[in-house]
Formats: sequence, C-alpha cells, structure tokens
Amino acid sequence: MPQLDLTADQLLTTTRAVRRRLDLTRPVDRALVEECLALATQAPTGRNRQRWDFVVVTDPARRAALAGLYRLGLTHPRDPVARTGLDRTTEDTARRLRLAVSAQHLFDHLHEVPVLVVPCVRIEGRHELAGHVGQANTWGSILPAVWQFMLAARSRGLGTAWTTPHLHYEREAAELLGIPYETVAQAALVPLAHTLGTDFRPGPRVDTARITHWDTW
Ligand SMILES: Cc1cc2nc3c(=O)[nH]c(=O)nc-3n(C[C@H](O)[C@H](O)[C@H](O)COP(=O)(O)O)c2cc1C
Repeated sequence: MPQLDLTADQLLTTTRAVRRRLDLTRPVDRALVEECLALATQAPTGRNRQRWDFVVVTDPARRAALAGLYRLGLTHPRDPVARTGLDRTTEDTARRLRLAVSAQHLFDHLHEVPVLVVPCVRIEGRHELAGHVGQANTWGSILPAVWQFMLAARSRGLGTAWTTPHLHYEREAAELLGIPYETVAQAALVPLAHTLGTDFRPGPRVDTARITHWDTW
C-alpha cells in the first residue's frame, strides 16, 4: 500500500533521482520490494511477452562487488555521465555542479545502499540487440517497468536513481549474479532505499513547447 499521500501528478513530478537522501542505515522490507515489483509488471511489453526479470541484490558482498563495477563503469572513458565529474565543472552551471556532487555521493556510497535492483530482459541472443527495431522492442519491453518500479517506490517513501555505468561490465555483473548473459540483457542498476524525508520538488526541465512538434518536426 502507498505510504505517501500523493496525487498522480505529484507522484509523476516528484519522483527524482535520489542519491544524497537515500537512508543507508534503514533496511528495506522484502514485502515493499515485492509490492513495487508487482506494480512494475503492470507496465506494457511488446506482444505482452513479459520477458522481464529483476535481480534484487541485498547480500552485502554482492552489493559491494556490483558497486565496484558501477565505479569502474562510471570512470570508463566512453561513459558520458563521467563527464559530470567534479574535476570538469569550471564552466558548468550550478545545476551541473549539484548533479556532480550528488552523483559523487552515490559513487562513494553505492555499496551501502540496502537494495540494488538489476532489471533484466530476456533475449533470444545478443544479436537481438543489434538492430534498431529489435532494440526498440527489447528496451521498450523493460524500461517502462523500471520507471513504474521507481514510481511505486516513491509512493512508498523509497528513493531510487536510474544508473547504467555498470553495463560497461555487464558480463562481469552477470557472472556475479548468476544471470545467463547470452539470453538475458541487463537494463539498468537501480539503488533502492528509504528516503531521508519525503518532500521532493519537481525537477528543472526544458520548456515542452521547444520540444513539441505538431504534425511535422
Ligand atoms: C539512462 C540513464 C542513465 C543514468 N545514469 C546515471 C548514473 O550513472 N549515475 C547517476 O547518479 N544518475 C544517473 N541517471 C540519473 C539522471 O542523472 C537523472 O535522471 C537526471 O539527472 C534527472 O534527475 P531528476 O529527475 O532528479 O531531476 C541516469 C538516468 C538515466 C535515464
């Protein structure tokens, strides 16, 4: 059951990437995670195949190892998120600085977050991830569920942050968690914890008029 009294619009506008306000000391009940997953699986999937799996990592040693892969991935030279690093902020805005500080906090504390969720999607081989339409169908069949999980978490006083850098080391993560690499693709790594306080504001976003194209681009 939701614990916070939020309207649908409030839920949709205040589900933020939570990093510094994750409660690293309070365990998360298994039942809460299960509720969020039940809501996640109401999301759409291509041909209603529901080819999702969620690896919920609570074991401290596995969390530490997964956090290690995240850190390796985030310092990976090809990862664009790494460009928000603290040493590259001279020409940045205050917002980018805040994001960098927040991201650094998660970088430093990820292993302490009580639950790390790895959403996965079943594939018929890695080749399926090569073509555009295949990609759209594959990712489109797991990412809505991931976001739905994050919304469900928010409504229960839990915070999450979408992350992907560990995917640079997806094979190593698969070995760590016993995921069959050839037939299951990992989509993200979502830290989950109770939030410190439950008041969150809508995030800064671009003006939708600038990105809306009626009839033609
Ligand atoms: C595909 C994707 C990858 C992301 N990777 C990371 C990440 O590696 N580390 C992190 O702290 N946040 C990551 N984020 C979270 C974004 O930084 C966050 O969604 C964005 O800054 C908006 O935050 P807000 O909703 O709190 O305004 C990622 C988000 C997405 C959608």
